[in-house]
Parts: sequence; C-alpha cells; structure tokens
Amino acid sequence: MEQRRLGSDGPLVSALGIGSLGMAGRYGPSDEAESLATLHAALDAGVTLLDTGDFYGVGSTEQLIGRALRGRRREQTALSVKFGMLCEPGGEWRRLDTRPEMVRHSLAYTLRRLGTDYVDVYRPARCDPDVPVEETVGAISEMVSAGYVRFVGLSEVDADTLRRAHETHPISDLQIEYSLLSRDIEGGLLQLARQLGVGITAYGVLSRGLLTGRRPEDRDGDVRAVFPRFQGDNLEHNLTLVHRLQAVAEARGMTTSQLAIAWVLAQGADIVPVVGARSRTQLAETLRAGGLGLSAEDLAAVERAIPAGSAAGDRYPRGPVPSSDDKP
Ligand SMILES: NC(=O)c1ccc[n+]([C@@H]2O[C@H](COP(=O)([O-])OP(=O)(O)OC[C@H]3O[C@@H](n4cnc5c(N)ncnc54)[C@H](OP(=O)(O)O)[C@@H]3O)[C@@H](O)[C@H]2O)c1
Repeated sequence: MEQRRLGSDGPLVSALGIGSLGMAGRYGPSDEAESLATLHAALDAGVTLLDTGDFYGVGSTEQLIGRALRGRRREQTALSVKFGMLCEPGGEWRRLDTRPEMVRHSLAYTLRRLGTDYVDVYRPARCDPDVPVEETVGAISEMVSAGYVRFVGLSEVDADTLRRAHETHPISDLQIEYSLLSRDIEGGLLQLARQLGVGITAYGVLSRGLLTGRRPEDRDGDVRAVFPRFQGDNLEHNLTLVHRLQAVAEARGMTTSQLAIAWVLAQGADIVPVVGARSRTQLAETLRAGGLGLSAEDLAAVERAIPAGSAAGDRYPRGPVPSSDDKP
C-alpha cells in the first residue's frame, strides 16, 4: 500500500487509515466480532494507521484495537487517539475538559486499554474554550518527552489555534472533516497546514455514509438522524448531488464511495483519509479505492457533479451540547 508521511516530521503511514467511531455503535448497532475481523483484515492488508477516541464507546474501541493488535508487532501500526470529551455512565458525550491533568489522566487509561506503552498521535478532540491550547499541547509535549506519546495532533481547530499550538510543540497532524461535501478547509486552513508542515488526516470522507448514495436507514442509536445533512430537504438535495457523482463513478467502473475516497487521496500526498469502514465488505471497497488514480479529466467530472460548497445543511447539529451531540 502507498505510504504517506503525516506532516514534515510525523509518522509514515498507509495512505488510507481506518477509523473506529462506527465500531462503537455511533451509526447504529455494531457487531464486535465483525469489527475485530475488519481491524485484522485492515492490518493484514497493510493499513498502518488506526484512529480512535477514548470516548468512542467509553473506551471500548480502544480495547477492541488493543485486542486486534495482540500478537502483532506494535511498532508496525500508528495509533491516533483523541481525548478530552467527558462521558456519562450511559455513554453520552457531555463536555470538553483538556486541562493538563486530564491529558495525563486520560493517557494513563488509554495506554492500559490499548495494551501499549505509547500512543503515536495524541490529540484533544476539540479545543476546550476554558483551557488555552498552549496548556493542553504543552502537557502533551511533556508526555512526548516522557516517551508516552510520539507525535502531537489536533482536531477541528481554526487557523489561529493551529498556529499557537504549533509554536508550543510541532503539530504533526490536523484531523479534520474533508470530503466532496465538506470542503471548508480549502478556505485557508489547508494552505496554512501546508506552510507549517502539518499533515491532514481527513475524516468524514464519505460524509458519514451520505456519499455512498444509500438512503439512511432508521437504526437504533444512529446519531446521523440529528445531523442537518441527513434531514428533510437537505437530504433530498444532497442525495441528488450524490446521484450525479454515481453516474461519474459508474462510467469509470467505480462505486461512488471509491470515487469519493479517491478524490480526497488526489488532493495531496499530505492528506491521509481515515475511513470509517466497519465491516470487511466496506473495508475491501475502501482499500480498492487506494489503487484508483484519478486523471485531470476525472477530477473535472467530479467537480461538475458536486461543485464546492453545494451541500445543503450544516456539518453538525447546532445549539448547546446535548447528550446526543456528536461534535467530536
Ligand atoms: N476528529 C473528529 O472530529 C472526527 C469526527 C468523526 C469521525 N472521526 C474519525 O474518522 C473516522 C471516519 O469518519 P466517519 O466514520 O464519521 O465517516 P465516514 O468514513 O465518512 O463514513 C463511514 C460510514 O460510511 C458508510 N460506508 C459505506 N460504504 C463504506 C465503505 N466502503 N467504507 C466505509 N464506510 C462506508 C458506513 O455507513 P453504515 O454504517 O450505514 O454502513 C460507515 O459507517 C471515524 O471512524 C473516526 O475515527 C473523527
């Protein structure tokens, strides 16, 4: 599999990473055996970047990844972990806390659940409005010095925060939503990341499944129902866009998911899509996209099908953080 470096000094990883949010049941019931088989299949196929958050299933995906890595050479896989979202006993995500003491506390539990003595990329899920980013990143930097963390990452921050954090400790990777339906980072953040030598792990590359063209099913615990892009007229508009993409994909012998993944891969060698494949079938489809180069003509056809900024609806639900909030 093609390798890409995260940032100028970060880890060398497979050009496609796998994320575990869906394995925590965030998008409807998940199947633990299938999730484990998917992680094993990904590792066997040469995927060397696994992404998780300590709050995904209240630590359960870290435990799952820990199990998947048992008996394998730890140093062959880069583990990317988000922290800072406080959970309720029922699993709801409540609010952020990224104070330095939380960095150390969260990391201690993460290492135990993953069954490892270091994390490759450690990052706050979001910036805590009550804690300057310098303090949070400074605390992670101490964990780098102590050998518990290899590289510092961020998630969904603005340009000013990225700059300030990078002055505190070199940031290897910014994790941020980037897809044919979410191109906000092209407004300047991507350029700044490139200037600073910060890599990008792109999430939501399939727009949480919207870019597959399938109409969402009504499934227990599937938080996508509260996302504006999956609602009413927005959904109909967005599916119309995806059907246009489907025509482009079919003419090239691809699925719309593969074309959407290949499009993100084509946006630069500093970008690593982290795809939420949660079954071996989805994984196989995802990995095939890694080998599909897109020509300038293909890219122009994709652009005509889904012009930048044409998605209807915000990326996330608005308002105060409710218990069903899915912001990280
Ligand atoms: N930093 C952040 O703020 C942040 C936020 C969200 C996610 N992430 C990370 O990024 C990862 C990916 O994001 P995501 O899961 O939200 O979005 P995604 O990769 O855009 O969407 C994943 C969903 O797409 C559907 N799908 C259909 N065909 C697929 C295929 N071939 N491969 C993969 N998925 C296919 C599945 O839906 P069905 O389940 O309906 O089959 C799957 O649950 C997460 O697992 C997580 O690690 C980070």
